[in-house]
Amino acid sequence: MSTHLSASVLNADFARLGDEVARADDGGADSIHLDVMDGHFVDNLTFGPVVVESIRSRTTLPFHAHLMISNPLAYAERFADAGSDLIVFHAEADDDPERVIAAIEDAGKRPGLAINPETPADAALPWLDRIGLLLVMTVHPGWGGQPFMDEVLPKMRALADEIERRGLDLPIGVDGGVKLDTIGPAAAAGGAVMVVGSALYATDGDLASTVDALRAAAG
Ligand code: DX5
Ligand code: ZN
Repeated sequence: MSTHLSASVLNADFARLGDEVARADDGGADSIHLDVMDGHFVDNLTFGPVVVESIRSRTTLPFHAHLMISNPLAYAERFADAGSDLIVFHAEADDDPERVIAAIEDAGKRPGLAINPETPADAALPWLDRIGLLLVMTVHPGWGGQPFMDEVLPKMRALADEIERRGLDLPIGVDGGVKLDTIGPAAAAGGAVMVVGSALYATDGDLASTVDALRAAAG
């Protein structure tokens, strides 16, 4: 799978969020990653469907809503209506992922599943054939700019091998600390959708050269 670069706007300039989304599009990103935090599932608060809707018209790139919230079932449809294309919820947030997956499918969108660094691969195995993205967290969720956790790579490799063994067309997403020196090892461990936040938005002006450098480093 060629490397898909997903721009996380968590470290963008929120005073100009629409422009920042357009900047990622102009820079060659493949999708926009939207970190939704409820101050409960994680110790941070970001934004809700209203903000997603307000920036929807600034790009035709797919919106990947990463729901770091305790009640994804209650909000899935609202993020769908706001213009999200892929809605990723956490396996740790609901002990019945089936009903959340079904709610996202009923809303006409693709479901994705995220697992925290300490969550074993087993938590994702029952759902691999039901989701459009398996997001493997390489930081503890809640903040951008954290260091990449190398210790997650063996789990990522094992999941990639299992996906291949089953013959599934399911990309693994890598979220947290993805930079020029970590995107290569992440790709080698089976990562295909690379979420990049601070490494991208730390750059002023044109993002294209950063995007190109990250793609090259992914190999
Ligand atoms: C963290 C978020 C990530 C974060 C990535 O909880 O899920 O998407 O924004 O940012 P960087 O690339 O700076 O780690
Ligand atoms: Zn994220």
